[in-house]
Amino acid sequence: MVGRDQMDTTAAKSIPVFDIDLFSDDSLRSPYENYSTLRDAGPVVYLPRAGAYAFPRYAEIRRALEDHETFISGKGVGLSDFGNNSRRGTPIASDPPLHTLVRGVVQDRLSLRAVREITPSIQAKADELVASILERAEFDGVIDFARQFPLLIMADLIGLPRDGREHILEWADAGFNLFGPDNERVRSSMSRFPEVVSYIRSLEQPGRLRPGSMGAAIYEAAEQGKLKFEQCGPLMVAYLMAGLDTTINAISAALMLFGKYPEQWDKVRSNPKLLPTAFNEVIRLESPIQNLRRVLSRDYEVDGHVVPAGASVLMMFGSGNRDGRKWADPDRFDATRNPVGHIAFGMGIHNCPGQILARAETMALLEGLVSAVARIEIGEPVWHLNNVIRGLERLPVRLHA
Ligand code: HEM
Repeated sequence: MVGRDQMDTTAAKSIPVFDIDLFSDDSLRSPYENYSTLRDAGPVVYLPRAGAYAFPRYAEIRRALEDHETFISGKGVGLSDFGNNSRRGTPIASDPPLHTLVRGVVQDRLSLRAVREITPSIQAKADELVASILERAEFDGVIDFARQFPLLIMADLIGLPRDGREHILEWADAGFNLFGPDNERVRSSMSRFPEVVSYIRSLEQPGRLRPGSMGAAIYEAAEQGKLKFEQCGPLMVAYLMAGLDTTINAISAALMLFGKYPEQWDKVRSNPKLLPTAFNEVIRLESPIQNLRRVLSRDYEVDGHVVPAGASVLMMFGSGNRDGRKWADPDRFDATRNPVGHIAFGMGIHNCPGQILARAETMALLEGLVSAVARIEIGEPVWHLNNVIRGLERLPVRLHA
């Protein structure tokens, strides 16, 4: 693949243009070669097929994430208008002061203290799931394991009724697709949106959300005048969906990587204290969210290149997390690495508010496995293709005690 130069009208250095479709099936299945090409081309590239500039290297992504006044989220962090409009006014698609208000509504429900309070219940559910797969000679690491867990936890936290949950995981997948450019995956996901809206409406009937739950707290905030009632539905969708495929894929990526690198599993088995940082290494290497955009509020200069005000710029989390300028031997899975500063949870004011919960969920499962399983044998992983989520469709697994 050859990059050509885009001339711009300012006398600034030209920005390399790449005719790559980062959202094609092939690229989604194996993105890392494209990422490496883009990183080598420069700190900023232009991707005409996405209609966006992109930052493929760690340093520029991090700097941009920490500068929310220049790199704004309020026009939406996806590339499709439909997706951006559907998220308007939620934390991920807003700037201060609105962002401060909507993020603040249930922030305390995801704090360290709040997650500690629900950890015994998370642990009990994790123990049950781990016990069920330990009984089986073979199972699917995605279908029977990773996909079984985060919805249980999120449904409890948000206070969802038992009925009506059947399609939530499909809706979450569709919701993440809507961050992509206007492609077939976006078009087919749009058709699921009315189902999500009617499900959320059904939760607004009195008595549907568990009293005291995070979902109930969102509607109480509206009753207390902190929010407008019409802001509640989008906020419910934002929290419910954000906590599913992300965590599911962190869990299945952990199984895959520890299966592929048994010597790394041996290391965490002999020292389980490594597990929390090994979790960071898993999501550094297979970042569940690969790309989100920002829009420039002013002209921005990167290493002599000028990116114009109003332009869309992709923050390539998955690429920055594999940038050799930041990480030694970046493609290697090293459970002892302790990758401080990884951007799988973002950075700056939009950094993931669910990260303590995601970590607690994954830890509860891995701790169960680490004490019982000597080796994780895996078959060929099958990737699930989503515009922004990197994750698996299937992963054959056999556990050895
Ligand atoms: C391993 C699991 C997870 C990963 C890798 C992840 C990743 C991310 C990333 C990269 C962002 C930054 C978006 C941006 O900069 O525009 C983010 C934001 C967000 N995440 Fe997560 N997330 C995970 C789990 C969760 C969970 C469990 C929840 C909810 C309980 C959640 C809720 C949110 C919300 C509401 C935002 C928007 C915050 C804002 O814009 O202020 N996430 N997440």
